[in-house]
Amino acid sequence: MRNRRAALATLAGAASLVLPLSACGQTSESNSPEGGTIGIAMPTRASERWLTDGKTIVDELKAKGYQSKLVYGEDDPKTQAAQIENLVKQRVDALIIAAIDNRSLNDVLKQAAAADIPVISYDRLILGTQDVDYYVSFDNEQVGRLQAFYIIDKLGLDDGKGPFNIELFAGSPDDNNTAYFYEGAMHLLQPYLDSKQLVVQSGQTALKQVTTLRWDGPTAQKRMTDILAESYGGRDVDAVLSPYDGISIGVLSALKSAGYGSAGKPLPVITGQDAELASVKSIIAGEQSQTVYKDIRQLGEVAADMADEILNGRTPRINNRRTYKNGVKAVPAFLLQPTSVDKTNYDYVLVAGGYYTAAELK
Ligand code: GAL
Repeated sequence: MRNRRAALATLAGAASLVLPLSACGQTSESNSPEGGTIGIAMPTRASERWLTDGKTIVDELKAKGYQSKLVYGEDDPKTQAAQIENLVKQRVDALIIAAIDNRSLNDVLKQAAAADIPVISYDRLILGTQDVDYYVSFDNEQVGRLQAFYIIDKLGLDDGKGPFNIELFAGSPDDNNTAYFYEGAMHLLQPYLDSKQLVVQSGQTALKQVTTLRWDGPTAQKRMTDILAESYGGRDVDAVLSPYDGISIGVLSALKSAGYGSAGKPLPVITGQDAELASVKSIIAGEQSQTVYKDIRQLGEVAADMADEILNGRTPRINNRRTYKNGVKAVPAFLLQPTSVDKTNYDYVLVAGGYYTAAELK
């Protein structure tokens, strides 16, 4: 079979060869009858998005003549490392990995490198290792900026309104995306914290104080319940920065248990991410305010294209070489653009865009 690492090394140095797919020409080689088998390691079945990711990548690869071995690590870093080790032993031709813990895969990726198996870091950047070849994701800082912008707009902060009470939530501390989302959001929110138009009554603003291990909704629910009990006697929370729909649903449960969402005590502005079905329904029902939609179908397609390009000895399409430093190197990346969705545009973006049917949202 092809010497994939050699092809990678040669092509990685040839920046002039970084061309869009269309410019490379979609030759029949893409649908190489030889095909191959791609190992896909996803983090968990508990969140709907990762099921869509897995299925999309498998379908995209199949259309290109590849077989797939798809595994889910059930949010346990050790399980995921063992699964990937197993895929390496089975000699898959390439690996597409959405890490659970971005730092727990270094050993197993050494084995992948020794076996000449190229690695694509999917959605979440794998840190601290040389043995990751490409990264495919969305513009993660922009996700945070879209959430913050929504809060700023809905509260009328640019018109000088306030002060308003806000509480801040971030994602899992072991996911590299967490800091990008939070920094993107705080970049826009910090000036209003400084001017006191926004006040965090809990005082919890440092990233390490606001993370949510494994992005777990019930963990966020508990934190919000505690904050309401400790810091909101006699006052209301006006906005919640939530980085992910599962967290938003947890926060909303805490708020509703504390009487929010009833006459005279409206729910705060609350953001999210992933356009998960439950959250889109919640947006339509007037509970969650916003989500950031990332078209997983595009992400899966880019990852499958990348694997195909690498295995055919071509340089994959990338659009960022500098931003995603993993502690050892800047990993060449392809970043897609996220979209802010709320009650006013979900129909256009999600239904007309074919992500959900109108019936699914009933
Ligand atoms: C992040 C991902 C988000 C969300 C979150 C929880 O890494 O970028 O879109 O899915 O994990 O699963």
